Amino acid sequence: MTGGDQRNQIRTTIQDHILTIEMNRPEKKNALTMRMYAAMTEAIVQAEGNREVRVMLITGAEGNFTSGNDLADFVEAPPTDEGSPVFRFMRAISMAEKPVLAAVSGLAVGIGTTMLLHCDLVYAGESAKFLMPFTNLGLCPEAGSSFLLPLLAGHQRAAELLLLGEPFGAAKGKEIGLVNEICPDSELLALALGRARRLAAQPQASVRLTKGMLKKGNREIVQRIISDEAQLLMQRLVSPEGKEAFRAFFEKRKPNFEPFQ
Ligand code: COA
Repeated sequence: MTGGDQRNQIRTTIQDHILTIEMNRPEKKNALTMRMYAAMTEAIVQAEGNREVRVMLITGAEGNFTSGNDLADFVEAPPTDEGSPVFRFMRAISMAEKPVLAAVSGLAVGIGTTMLLHCDLVYAGESAKFLMPFTNLGLCPEAGSSFLLPLLAGHQRAAELLLLGEPFGAAKGKEIGLVNEICPDSELLALALGRARRLAAQPQASVRLTKGMLKKGNREIVQRIISDEAQLLMQRLVSPEGKEAFRAFFEKRKPNFEPFQ
């Protein structure tokens, strides 16, 4: 079975009990619009209630995972409440009871990296390039990353990645615990699908119970942090620094934050 949103920017396929969700907007490096978030949320919610689906796999088209939130959307229609598609997506992926896998090659920017903190197994191609550019853009961490990243990587490594906002590769991703395995890009999908098939063949009640137990200790705090971060992010998106960063991106120049320091 295949499906997707009207323009097919989110492609979904169910095969061998695996729902594959592919971000497919290659001309913008798979940047996520509100419609794409809504389509991904819908796919996850439906999969949770569909007995045919046992495992979900998120990936990106044409060599990139995603360049993160569409910056034009952030300028034209910044989220104003937690019912916005971006926050609904964060809730859906963070609350999913069925296992979520990710196959990441190329760019994984912003939510492209932070959504991985909610995945159960993450596979990276050698080209994977992760980046959480929140401070570069005058913003703040999102999707629970201010809590989950230090939990995973330790404070100093999380601070390095979140404060300096520099890109890092697959090897560093593995070193900090974000990535399970690295392989050549040409083998990535086969590797991830192989692991997904293996999970789909396990007794599903046991798989879901185990995932639930792994997540239980932090479930409430993660939801609270996602909400706290969302409030701050909405403020930062319309801050002078945020506006300058977005203007600079579309004018293809470096931002100048000096007037606001
Ligand atoms: N939102 C909107 N458009 C985006 C985008 C995004 N997040 N990321 C890339 N694009 C667009 C570019 O504007 C460009 O459009 P154009 O061809 O109409 O000019 C196109 O996608 C290709 O991107 P380009 O910048 O030419 O590719 P690159 O390989 O040189 O650089 C990035 C890739 C991801 C490093 C760079 O595009 C970038 O920094 N994007 C913004 C990432 C970001 O800040 N995401 C939000 C995090 S919260």
